[in-house]
Amino acid sequence: MRNRPDPAAEFDIRLKEAAAETETMLAQLLAAECVAGEIVRPKRLIEAMRYASLAGGKRLRPFLVIESGRMFKVPRRRALLVGAALECIHCYSLVHDDLPAMDNDDLRRGRPTSHRAFDEATAILVGDGLLTLAFDILARPAAHPDAQMRIDLVMALARAAGIGGMVGGQMLDLAAEGRFETRRPQPLDELGVSRLQAMKTGALLRFACTAGAILGGADASARRAVDRFGAALGEAFQIADDLLDVEGDPSMVGKQTGKDAAANKATFVSLLGRDEARKRLHSLVARAQAALSRFGPAAATLREAARFVAERRN
Ligand code: IPE
Ligand code: IPE
Ligand code: MG
Ligand code: MG
Ligand code: MG
Repeated sequence: MRNRPDPAAEFDIRLKEAAAETETMLAQLLAAECVAGEIVRPKRLIEAMRYASLAGGKRLRPFLVIESGRMFKVPRRRALLVGAALECIHCYSLVHDDLPAMDNDDLRRGRPTSHRAFDEATAILVGDGLLTLAFDILARPAAHPDAQMRIDLVMALARAAGIGGMVGGQMLDLAAEGRFETRRPQPLDELGVSRLQAMKTGALLRFACTAGAILGGADASARRAVDRFGAALGEAFQIADDLLDVEGDPSMVGKQTGKDAAANKATFVSLLGRDEARKRLHSLVARAQAALSRFGPAAATLREAARFVAERRN
C-alpha cells in the first residue's frame, strides 16, 4: 500500500487539486455561449469576468467547501459547484475592493486590477455579474437535487455576503478610515476590529466551512463545531492578511503592500502591534483546530488549513 504523505504534503496536494478543479468549473460557467434564459453574453463583459476570476488566487474558499463536505460524505461535484459560487462572490468582492473609490489598488494576484486592465465601469459590472452568477449557480439542481437544500444554501450565502456580512464589513472598514461625515479616522477597540473583520472577511470563510455541513445534512452540533472552526479561521485569515501588508513581499503576495497604515485601516496590527497581532493569530489557529477535535483524523486536512492560513506567504 502507498504510504500516506504527511498532513502538510497532503494539504498541499488537496489544495492544488481543488484549485485546478475550481478553475475548470469557473471557466465553464463563464463560457462565451449563453445559457437558457439569457439573450447574449457581451464579449467585453465575459472577457473581464474571466480576467477577474481565472488564473490566480489560492481558491481557499472552494477548497474549504470541498474539505468540509468530504467530512460529511458530500459528492465532490456538488461541493465544487457551491465552492465555485462562493469563489464568484469572493472575486467580485476583490474587484470592487480594489476600485479607486474603495482601496484604490493597481495590483491583484500579480496582475493589474480589473479596473486597470479594463476600466472602472467594466469592473463594476464584472462585480455585479459575478455576484448574480453566484446565486444562479446555487439555484441549479446540480448544486443539490433537493430544492429546500438549495434555498438553505442561497440564504446562508446571501447572509454571509450581504448587509450584515461582507458588504457590511466593507462599509465599516471604510467608515473606520474616516471616509464619511467626520473625515477623521475612527479608531476601533478590539471588539470593533474583530467584528469588522468577522464581517468583511470572516463571513465568507465561515460560509465555506458550514456549506459542507449543510450539503452533507450534518446534525446541529456538528454544524456548530464546523461553524466555530470557520469563525476562528476567518478571523485568523484577516490578521494574516494584515501582517502580510506590513511584512510581505509584493512579488510574493501579488498585491501592493504597506498600504493599510497609510490609509488608516482598522486592523489588529495597527491596534496591538505586530507581536500581539501574531499572538492573537496563533491562538485563533489553536482555537480553530480545537473546534475540530470531535472529528478525529477525518478533519486532518482542515486542521492543516488553519496552520496554512497563519503561515502563508501570499
Ligand atoms: C484576499 O483574499 C482578500 C481578503 C479577504 C483578505 P485571498 O488572500 O483569499 O485572495 P486570493 O483569492 O488568494 O487572491
Ligand atoms: C478585503 O480586505 C476584504 C474583502 C471583502 C475583499 P482587504 O482590503 O485587506 O483585502 P486586500 O488586502 O485588498 O486583498
Ligand atoms: Mg479593503
Ligand atoms: Mg483591499
Ligand atoms: Mg489587506
